[in-house]
Amino acid sequence: MTQSASEPTTQLFDPLSHLPNGALENPYPLLAGTRNGAPIVWSPKGNQWLVVRYEEANSILRNNSFGKRLDKWKHPKFFMRQAARIFRRGGSSSILLQDPPDHTRVRGLVNSAFTPRVVRGLEDHITEISNKLIGNMMNKTRFDLIEDFAFPLPVTVIAGLLGVPVEDQDRFKHWSRKITLGLAVSGNPLRLVHSFFAIEGLRKYLSKTIEGKREHPGADLISSLLAVQSADHQHLSQEELLANAILILIAGHETTTNLIANGVMALINHPEQKQMIMEDPNLFGLAVEEILRFDPAVQIVRRLANEAVDIGGAHIRPNDGITILIGACNRDPLVFRDPDVFDIKRENNNRHLTFGAGIHFCLGAELARTEARIALKQLFERMPNITMNEARVKYKGPFGLRGPEQLMIDSRH
Ligand code: HEM
Repeated sequence: MTQSASEPTTQLFDPLSHLPNGALENPYPLLAGTRNGAPIVWSPKGNQWLVVRYEEANSILRNNSFGKRLDKWKHPKFFMRQAARIFRRGGSSSILLQDPPDHTRVRGLVNSAFTPRVVRGLEDHITEISNKLIGNMMNKTRFDLIEDFAFPLPVTVIAGLLGVPVEDQDRFKHWSRKITLGLAVSGNPLRLVHSFFAIEGLRKYLSKTIEGKREHPGADLISSLLAVQSADHQHLSQEELLANAILILIAGHETTTNLIANGVMALINHPEQKQMIMEDPNLFGLAVEEILRFDPAVQIVRRLANEAVDIGGAHIRPNDGITILIGACNRDPLVFRDPDVFDIKRENNNRHLTFGAGIHFCLGAELARTEARIALKQLFERMPNITMNEARVKYKGPFGLRGPEQLMIDSRH
């Protein structure tokens, strides 16, 4: 059956148009509802297609008929159009928003800093930072896991890799929060203003850092990209260098903070699974994959159709916008048995789409996995009896980036 753009749909949950009460805290019942209909449904309110089944999402992500010229797509709400424009100011020249051949050229340049071999070489460093942070938490009976652990660990690692001073981490946190909150659907103009100024602030800060590195290069990613640039200006423009520094700084900590926090919650809430890992610490790697599948730190990825495509019963037209709902796809019962069950030993938990797929597959996936594995292992080995202090956790938003605002933890020694 071909579904046309004008046909009404029933099980519609379009988180980029409207967030019902409680959807930020627990979107999974709503996402399950979306799967009762077609794999790809049209949202008239959002002027876009929503992809809610795994196979269709996976093939769209791997199909170059779908690209990143998202400026061609218009959200019906003025507010959301402005938010998208402001966001593009930060990153339209980054690999996240580029199509081939530019994407291929620039991704090739940044890739070398994130290979599995490089990440393996960082394990001792990550362990050392993690140990120190846990040592500080052990002096407390109650603490905010985000502030004391889940944020400082990845931000320290990514600042070091990129070559920006980690002492400025509070500024990064501030900018990152303001920029990402600008993407929330609740139409608050003040948020847009904050988002705009945060992007300008971060651009200025990183431009200065880049100029400083030109004079005094170090052993870091910005310096090595500058070396490429000075050898051949055609190979990397100044705007591409800046946009990718912004992307890597934000993507490198915001998402991993959420992964660590979502992981701590999942393990505390599933004591029998936690017990199993404690008895066999080799399972921490598998646990991270199941956390990524079960409660994805990134909930949406977006594309624009470059041409007409028929897929999953939907007739997609050129320039149609597409949003993939990762949280729905990762619990697709056609791929994952008993998908709502948190089971670290399920045979295919690493097939999740939480890092995307295809040419834009997350550049930092290996780094995020390694940080989360080390963080969770050390935390539960050294503080096995931690509990959550609050029954209800407040989530930060926007919908696309899932993680708690704070996570108060009680510790009994
Ligand atoms: C839990 C942690 C993380 C999650 C869930 C995550 C998720 C994602 C997803 C879904 C994409 C694909 C976007 C798309 O297809 O449109 C992506 C791309 C990307 N991620 Fe991550 N990410 C994480 C951690 C990191 C880290 C630590 C870095 C640090 C470098 C990073 C850097 C990037 C970059 C640069 C891209 C763009 C790649 C491209 O477009 O070619 N991410 N990430």
